[in-house]
Amino acid sequence: MATSRKSPIQRQDRSPAAVKVEGLSKSYGSQEVLHDVSFNVEPGEIFVIMGPSGSGKSVLLRHIAGLEVPTRGKLDINGFNPTLPETRDQFALALVFQSGALLNSLSVYDNLALYPHEHRLCPQKDLRDRVMRALRILSIEHAVQKMPAELSGGMRKRVAIARALVMEPQLLLYDEPTSELDPIMAATIAEIIATLREEYAVTSIVVSHDRDLSLTIADRFALMQGGQLHSVAPPGEFQKSTDPIITEFLNPQINLQNPRFKSLETSS
Ligand SMILES: Nc1ncnc2c1ncn2[C@@H]1O[C@H](COP(=O)(O)OP(=O)(O)OP(=O)(O)O)[C@@H](O)[C@H]1O
Ligand SMILES: [Mg+2]
Repeated sequence: MATSRKSPIQRQDRSPAAVKVEGLSKSYGSQEVLHDVSFNVEPGEIFVIMGPSGSGKSVLLRHIAGLEVPTRGKLDINGFNPTLPETRDQFALALVFQSGALLNSLSVYDNLALYPHEHRLCPQKDLRDRVMRALRILSIEHAVQKMPAELSGGMRKRVAIARALVMEPQLLLYDEPTSELDPIMAATIAEIIATLREEYAVTSIVVSHDRDLSLTIADRFALMQGGQLHSVAPPGEFQKSTDPIITEFLNPQINLQNPRFKSLETSS
């Protein structure tokens, strides 16, 4: 997914994006799933958002991507509101979906080339170079003619990231980039996210359950809890924290005498 329409060559500002989230709340019907969330992400930063399942991480990411309209509060990317269609040309943003969201009827090459071609993001003669460069950075140029059904899970993730890179984004959003991967491929993806910051001068917001990835690559780390931002801090501060919500999240203990799912049953 990407929201850029103009050629990045024409766009004046190619610097990594700054993101501001102010008092963001979101309700679906009577259920409030985000409550008064505020934070800033600095240009070039790797900002990792963690939190229990259902705490609102993906909904938050979709708002930053301009795919959802807040019930209350403001979003700002380089001074522009990402939820307004008329301002989306002002910055290049790409979202890597958890599922990869590849089009199954198109080859890897066509998956990468489709959006830049349709939106004339670069001259036609440069498109192949751009696609091949992105595949090379992810070490999957050998898969260029494959169909998505022929890819392993790890390859699909890398193709999904390559597709985002073709947009030459100023802001890259990742939703669970290492889920369902073996530990070595997860570490590879973490290395890729960290390397891309240097290669593409990009700001990265990563939603992840992967504690090791998060603590290794994050400049700062946010913990969501029940639709609220519980805390934001560099990883070192999180690891030293004695806050019970943080310690429970970072080091969950298996308690067979008093299992958590029993209290979930009684509280619902
Ligand atoms: N389009 C929607 N309509 C109604 N409710 C939604 C919608 N999208 C998300 N929700 C609800 O918002 C809450 C937060 O969902 P979200 O997908 O952000 O969780 P999450 O933190 O990403 O969880 P996970 O770690 O399992 O991916 C959930 O209760 C979910 O059911
Ligand atoms: Mg999610």
